[in-house]
Amino acid sequence: MVNPLTEKSLLRLSSVAQLRGRFSVPGDKSISHRSVILGALAEGTTTITGFLRSEDCMATLNIMKQLGVPIDDDGVSIRVHGVGLNGLKMATGDLDCGNAGTAMRLLSGVLAAQNFSSTLTGDESLSVRPMNRIIKPLTQMGAQITSDKGTAPLIFSAVGSLKPINYDSPIASAQVKSAILLAGLFAEGITTVTEPKKSRDHTETMLAGFGATIDVDGLKVAIKGKPQLKGQNIEVPGDVSSAAFFMVLALCHRDADIIVENVCINPTRVGVVHILKAMGGDIRFLHRRVIAGESVADIHIKSSRLKGIEVPNQWIPSAIDEFPAIFIAAAHADGLFQLTEAEELRHKESDRIAVMSQGLAIMGLSCKELPGGVVINGQGADWHPLGACLDGAGDHRCAMSFLVVSALHSETDMVVKGCHNIATSFPNFFKLMGQLSLFLEESVPVITIDGPSGVGKGTISSLTAKALGWHLLDSGSIYRAMALQAINMKLEPNDESQLVDAAKDLDLCFNVCEDGSSQVLLNQQPVTDQLRSESIGDMASKIASIADLRVALFSRQRAFQQQPGLVADGRDMGTIVFPSAPLKVFLTASVEERAKRRLKQLNDSGVDVRIRDLLNDIEARDLRDSSRKVAPLVPARDAHIIDTSGLSIEEVLSQVLTLARQFVV
Ligand code: DC
Repeated sequence: MVNPLTEKSLLRLSSVAQLRGRFSVPGDKSISHRSVILGALAEGTTTITGFLRSEDCMATLNIMKQLGVPIDDDGVSIRVHGVGLNGLKMATGDLDCGNAGTAMRLLSGVLAAQNFSSTLTGDESLSVRPMNRIIKPLTQMGAQITSDKGTAPLIFSAVGSLKPINYDSPIASAQVKSAILLAGLFAEGITTVTEPKKSRDHTETMLAGFGATIDVDGLKVAIKGKPQLKGQNIEVPGDVSSAAFFMVLALCHRDADIIVENVCINPTRVGVVHILKAMGGDIRFLHRRVIAGESVADIHIKSSRLKGIEVPNQWIPSAIDEFPAIFIAAAHADGLFQLTEAEELRHKESDRIAVMSQGLAIMGLSCKELPGGVVINGQGADWHPLGACLDGAGDHRCAMSFLVVSALHSETDMVVKGCHNIATSFPNFFKLMGQLSLFLEESVPVITIDGPSGVGKGTISSLTAKALGWHLLDSGSIYRAMALQAINMKLEPNDESQLVDAAKDLDLCFNVCEDGSSQVLLNQQPVTDQLRSESIGDMASKIASIADLRVALFSRQRAFQQQPGLVADGRDMGTIVFPSAPLKVFLTASVEERAKRRLKQLNDSGVDVRIRDLLNDIEARDLRDSSRKVAPLVPARDAHIIDTSGLSIEEVLSQVLTLARQFVV
């Protein structure tokens, strides 16, 4: 079993011709967080079944334990033995919310009112998310919160009680609304929150279920302070946010018919269903029922021909977490998809507008970022994305969305990195995908080093491979060996079909010698030194423009992708042969610099040449390599370009190894 949890793992899902299945997704994240918090503040026991055992919700549960709330977990149900509104105790250490924004913002509402101090901390991503949106109203209620630049850690001083406020929230955010309503529990009198648009309403629904006096009037929610909350039995239904990945997968798949059972279809959460249906998606709710105050249904999804739409603004708050997945649907839809006024997406676990747009663009899609959204030029059901290494940027929802693309496109060399936080919301994502026969695969990392003749790729590549202990592919030597074979067979560069046949039959093998150097054997004869000659290089450059010959040599190059990793040197390593490489380097240097380097090399080995001739040769080779129709010498869109003019080998190597440490190892 591969470990999907490292930041640099390169993952993809296998594909399946027919997508069929009936399954349920894990419990709703929002309801799970709230069930533990409200259970802790209630009197009596709250029994929770279907609790989402994700890292985020476990963070909330562990914090409640740290605050002195007894909680038992028998693996099936969780029993929270409530301590009442005034029963929380000071924790001994910091309270770590991990990646969970919901935990940090909701618990702030509770901790703001206590007669003891406490500190909420979070991981790197949570520590840059905006907290002023809750600090401001809570401070108005009398809380004393210290925070550097409005981000975590948040330090709450002991205050003991709060005063009610009437708050006009500038944003439609359930986390802001919930923080204020929870703080309102500790304020004598009526606290109200009015939102610009309706955000998800689980907090007010559940507070009412636990016995609080809640009054909802359109966009305004009022809570009466100091209620006595009573423990409840809560059955957490499936999370529609998790179901969204399967909706998009099935809609974009050629032959899909699946049912996701027992999903919470609370009207403030199903914006994703409205949007996907408006795009032409065949999605139906079956067996609608109400469980513990929440609407629940089984969701039936079939393959559909999707079209782009302009997303109506009123659906945005109820689909806010599902946009990464919706963007993937938009890429597979016909025509333009447009989202505006969803600026909030820039403040999630990542800047989701930027992360998703970059991923879509790297797959070759025309996608324009707007301040609060995107315009995606959908390519329809026949879209063939370009091979790529997509970066989920540690954002669970972006990572899962990109993994859905990989499952839809087995024809494309595509991997996803930055998947390490998937368990924060969806711990059994890969297991459920496996039940649909979409299996997790891990790819061997490749560093591609491309560039023109004489730029020093060979030296840098072999030193990089040595430093990392990885395999080395000198793809030029394959073209050179093919050139030697052509010369031996007395073939001319225009004898295309014979050259292609010869490439298919090429008897070529690479031996690693005891000193670590590599020996090339052509027809079982050593030819390493012979291959370095200028005439072979020239012939290689000429035959390398034959498309079918390149195809014939393709799998031979890909076979070098072996554990623990590969450094591949050539012209089209990053663009064609290994497009999913997590690090692509393109070395350049002026023609003069390269001619000087080559002159020194030749003079050192006793060969007498004129610099003018070398300059002419290099210019001609550059032109041929970069202007040919197939696999021209160009940097990949995501390549790191290093101009080596004036740099020593050590300086270039150090830059490459720094990039390798940053992106790959
Ligand atoms: O890197 P080199 O000089 O050994 O390569 C010799 C020729 O082979 C070069 O002029 C173009 C061709 N080549 C190519 O087309 N694609 C590659 N990946 C590597 C080499």
